[in-house]
Amino acid sequence: MTEERYYLYPVWVRLWHTINAVCCLLLILTGVSMQFSNPKVPLIRFDIAVSIHNIAGILLSINYLLFFAGNLFTRNGKFYQIFFPGFLTRLKAQYRYYTGGLFKGENPPFPIHWENKFNPLQLFSYVLIMYLMVPVIFITGWSLMYPEILPSSFWGFSGLHLTDLIHILSGFVISIFMFVHVYFCTIGKSPVSNFRSIINGYHESH
Ligand code: HEM
Repeated sequence: MTEERYYLYPVWVRLWHTINAVCCLLLILTGVSMQFSNPKVPLIRFDIAVSIHNIAGILLSINYLLFFAGNLFTRNGKFYQIFFPGFLTRLKAQYRYYTGGLFKGENPPFPIHWENKFNPLQLFSYVLIMYLMVPVIFITGWSLMYPEILPSSFWGFSGLHLTDLIHILSGFVISIFMFVHVYFCTIGKSPVSNFRSIINGYHESH
């Protein structure tokens, strides 16, 4: 087996990812604290949690512009394109690898290299999170900061409550993604090699 390194994480991706991960951690921590706020035992004092949550949300939205523009104007964007013919079959092959082949020491069905940065399951989850869930969470977040822009009722439901529900549900999905994402990042050449990649930019293949 030959050992290869591919420069797949340019500086802007690493910068965006670090800011994004820190903001998400702060948002989850302060979001949970506000959700389960109890004045007698506050995890984080309510007014402080609100301020940190708002600042981290604004930062995350601005940082998203970096991700969006970076993917629009550099070759990184092409790794986020899904080619649908055969995509389900490729997803299944990756699923079978994660649930079987990996434990038998088989080689990954979609090895990472210069032209192929993500396996099909990574591709699907990154597109879903970055092009749907993250925009939904910051658009609903901004709407909750300026509730006067929301309709007072929507199909008989309060516009404010509906926006709040969508905001919380998407936060829940992103939180679960984050745990699963970090776990899957331990599956690489070694348990820490993918974490090294997002720091030094080089993916290590085997
Ligand atoms: C402490 C939290 C996090 C850690 C330790 C972490 C770790 C990593 C690592 C090691 C990679 C490179 C391996 C790979 O390509 O999959 C990566 C890539 C990525 N992560 Fe995370 N991550 C974290 C949080 C997040 C969050 C919150 C999101 C989105 C909401 C996210 C989205 C992504 C995306 C989209 C990529 C691919 C970026 C690209 O190369 O274009 N990560 N992450």
